[in-house]
Amino acid sequence: MKITYLGHSCLLIETQDKTIITDPFITGNDLAKSIDISTIKADYILITHAHQDHILDVETIAKNNDTTLISNFEIINYFAEKGCKGHPMNHGGKWHFDFGTIHYTNAIHTSSFPNGDYGGQPGGFVIETHHHRLYIAGDTALTYDMKLIPEVIGELDIAVLPIGDNFTMGINEAIKASTFLNCNKILGYHYDTFGYIKINHKEAMEQFAKAKKELILLPIGEHLKL
Ligand code: NI
Ligand code: MN
Repeated sequence: MKITYLGHSCLLIETQDKTIITDPFITGNDLAKSIDISTIKADYILITHAHQDHILDVETIAKNNDTTLISNFEIINYFAEKGCKGHPMNHGGKWHFDFGTIHYTNAIHTSSFPNGDYGGQPGGFVIETHHHRLYIAGDTALTYDMKLIPEVIGELDIAVLPIGDNFTMGINEAIKASTFLNCNKILGYHYDTFGYIKINHKEAMEQFAKAKKELILLPIGEHLKL
C-alpha cells in the first residue's frame, strides 16, 4: 500500500489495484499548489464530513474519473443530487468493496455543508486490505471510542490522526490516541493549512519520540509505503 500526502486531510492511497483519495481539498490549499487535480486518478473518494476543507474538490475529481464516493448517508445524498455515484454508510457499519473492507468509525466534530445544510454526523474510516489495516480518523477530538478499533476490528499498521489542534485534537491528544489505538506509527494530517492549525514540526516530532512513538509528517506530494 502506497500513501501519498496531498495536503491538509487529503491522502492518495494506492492498494494492489485500486486508488482511493480522502477528503480532497487541493485547489483551495495554498500549500498544495504543486498538485494538479486534473491528473488525479481515483476509483473511490472517502469523505469524513461535509466541511469545505474536506469536500472542495470532490465533484471535480468524481466527474473526471467516474469515482464512487464513500461517506455518510447525508453526504452521499448531497453529491447524488450533483450526479455523483456513491455508497452510503453510517457509524459502526462495514462493507466489503473490491479493494477491501471499509469500517465507518466514530468522530467527535461537526459536519455542516458550506451553505449550512446538515451533513450528517462526522466519521472516520478503517481501510482493511489483505495485507494492511489503516485507520483514518477524520476531524475529531480524542475519544475513548478509539480503544474499540484494535479490539473489535484488529491491529492497525498505521493511524492517520489530525494534529493541528484548535478544530481537532492536537499533539498531546494524538499521543494519547496512539496509546488508545495500540498503534505507535502515526501519520499526522490536518495541520499547517491555515493560521489556526500551524504547528511546530520539530517540537511535535520530539514529543512523540519522548513517548516512544513515531510521528510521520510527509511533505506534500511525498509518500510512504506499508
Ligand atoms: Ni471539519
Ligand atoms: Mn477540517
